[in-house]
Amino acid sequence: MKTNFLRISALSLAVACGMGAAYAEPTNEMVIQTNKVGAEIQPTMYGLFFEDINYGADGGLYAEMIKNRSFEFPQNFLGWNTFGNVELKNDGPFERNPHYVRLSDPGHRHKRTGLDNEGYFGVAFKKGEEYRFSVWARSGSDAASKIRVELIDPASMGETQVMAKQDIDINSKEWKKYTVTLKPSQTVAKGRLRIFLSSPNSVDLEHISLFPVDTWKGHENGLRKDLAQKFADVKPGLLRFPGGCIVEGTDLATRYQWKNTVGPVENRPLNENRWEYTFPHRFFPDYFQSYGLGFFEFFQLSEEIGAEPLPVLNVGLACQYQNNDPSAHVPVDELQPYIQDALDLIEFANGDTTTTWGALRAQMGHPAPFNLKFIGIGNEQWGETYPEHLKPFITAIRAKYPDIKIVGSSGPNSEGKDFDYLWPEMKKLNADLVDEHFYRPESWFLSQGARYDNYDRKGPKVFAGEYACHGKGKKWNHFNAALLEAAFMTGLERNADVVHMATYAPLFAHVEGWQWRPDMIWFDNLESFPTSSYYVQQLYASNKGTNVLPLTMDKKPVTGAEGQNGLFASAVIDKKAGEYIVKVANTSDKEQPITLNFAGMKKNNKLTSCKVITLNAPNPDAENSLENPSLITPKESTMPIDGQSLQTTIAPLTFQVYILK
Ligand code: AHR
Repeated sequence: MKTNFLRISALSLAVACGMGAAYAEPTNEMVIQTNKVGAEIQPTMYGLFFEDINYGADGGLYAEMIKNRSFEFPQNFLGWNTFGNVELKNDGPFERNPHYVRLSDPGHRHKRTGLDNEGYFGVAFKKGEEYRFSVWARSGSDAASKIRVELIDPASMGETQVMAKQDIDINSKEWKKYTVTLKPSQTVAKGRLRIFLSSPNSVDLEHISLFPVDTWKGHENGLRKDLAQKFADVKPGLLRFPGGCIVEGTDLATRYQWKNTVGPVENRPLNENRWEYTFPHRFFPDYFQSYGLGFFEFFQLSEEIGAEPLPVLNVGLACQYQNNDPSAHVPVDELQPYIQDALDLIEFANGDTTTTWGALRAQMGHPAPFNLKFIGIGNEQWGETYPEHLKPFITAIRAKYPDIKIVGSSGPNSEGKDFDYLWPEMKKLNADLVDEHFYRPESWFLSQGARYDNYDRKGPKVFAGEYACHGKGKKWNHFNAALLEAAFMTGLERNADVVHMATYAPLFAHVEGWQWRPDMIWFDNLESFPTSSYYVQQLYASNKGTNVLPLTMDKKPVTGAEGQNGLFASAVIDKKAGEYIVKVANTSDKEQPITLNFAGMKKNNKLTSCKVITLNAPNPDAENSLENPSLITPKESTMPIDGQSLQTTIAPLTFQVYILK
């Protein structure tokens, strides 16, 4: 053993770590070269990828509680019950959402006219919280009309059914916005919003909306606070949006078009959501995109959580899984409108307020630029058609905005024919980054610790843009998957010179409305909980350091290779905080002794404190849930250290982050 090792007694370690571990011989000796400060870790390294899947936006992060608020769903009353004298009209004040309803006298003083909305899996109210109801309305005559708005609990048949109510005088024959706040007397998960006509003269209603007043940062067209807070708590360096497959569309007509998502919310046209019908066994006929959460809101959120925005645009190809007939795509010589969309988006984000799109951004409340630095063109495309389509985008963007970094794609697979074809193509096209996707089983994650060790250092950088470990059988967000993600991520970190970005996927799932799992954060209408995969992402993003440090065991990187006892490890320095940070994943079912030897420190320098963050679970199949949201959470402890080496043990199936001052 080297002389500068400080051998910490088994007892003091066990007490400090609460591990109760017996002393073990110091094997698994890892050497961290503190004097060989390596590649810079990009601020964008660990981020989030948001797509409107699993009711992630409408019914999720976007705090609107009313479904089909503008009556634009193909079945115009989907989500609504109407009673009495209700007519659908289509010459309303918002050109791109022309439908509205007319409520007229039901014909008898004992009869009633009105409608109620079921929300997304119910309209959930929290006792004592305020909810902002708003509606565009006009009276059918010179005299004022009146409506009554109620928050109701349909399960309660007594006087408690109406939990809050407000009367609104509609005092003009011109369209106007009316707003009231309501405070329910109960917490109810499956409530409804009900509106009665309460005057003899008719009233027209359009864009009927209900939001919690307490949204993320208080924005009126806001986001659910608990969900947005979970974004922020990751401390992400990057936010990729809006997809994913929804960027492509099943056909080009239904692709995501950012220009439809900006400007007044009342006039953002509805689009279908392909996740409505992608999986027949998870079919949701009421799943549409209102675009209430649009590109302005995405940029604003990125700024508020300190993440670089990475918008992804359609490359002129519809989803190739669903529609790969050449006629489904735009011929390369007709791509100009698509390319213009990309150029205009950069102007919307960064242009000064005298430009067309910069002016719109200012009008929406953000005169300062959003400082967009990255743009993705295409999602999971493949074949020759993709580089052919991408090329004119790159030429046009480089010509006008040479500083914007362009992200291309390596297709839907982490290896194989398409992947092997696209990487060299991306290199030829000079893409700045290449997006890789891997939803793979546990065996894949265990075998990929060294994936990036031999990547070409002269080509584009890597963006691990969508990945998650998919367990066998009925295991989804179980702990073992998260542990293997943590293990795999040591390889991202060790190769931070070539891997510049990484985002787990998908991010959100409504417990009643998911199409795809596992996911990072689950929620119902009242609560949300992070999975163990969430904590892995958070631990990496919050402890990413500034530069890589070489870490080896028997002179080899620790990648879970044979003879390495199921261990994966990486090390970084945080120059600003004056810390070394070591991440170790023990994927074996045995406790492992480990030694961390900080080589290359000046002789008299000592490490003075060691914080340890431990993530493990009662068993590898354990998972957090609405009922038990905190079963698996990171636990912090400290270890005494006074020297240049640390000996400890890591429990079976455990991820640990050591932070040493
Ligand atoms: O994350 C779910 C889907 O997986 C994304 O939309 C797509 O890019 C990938 O196939």
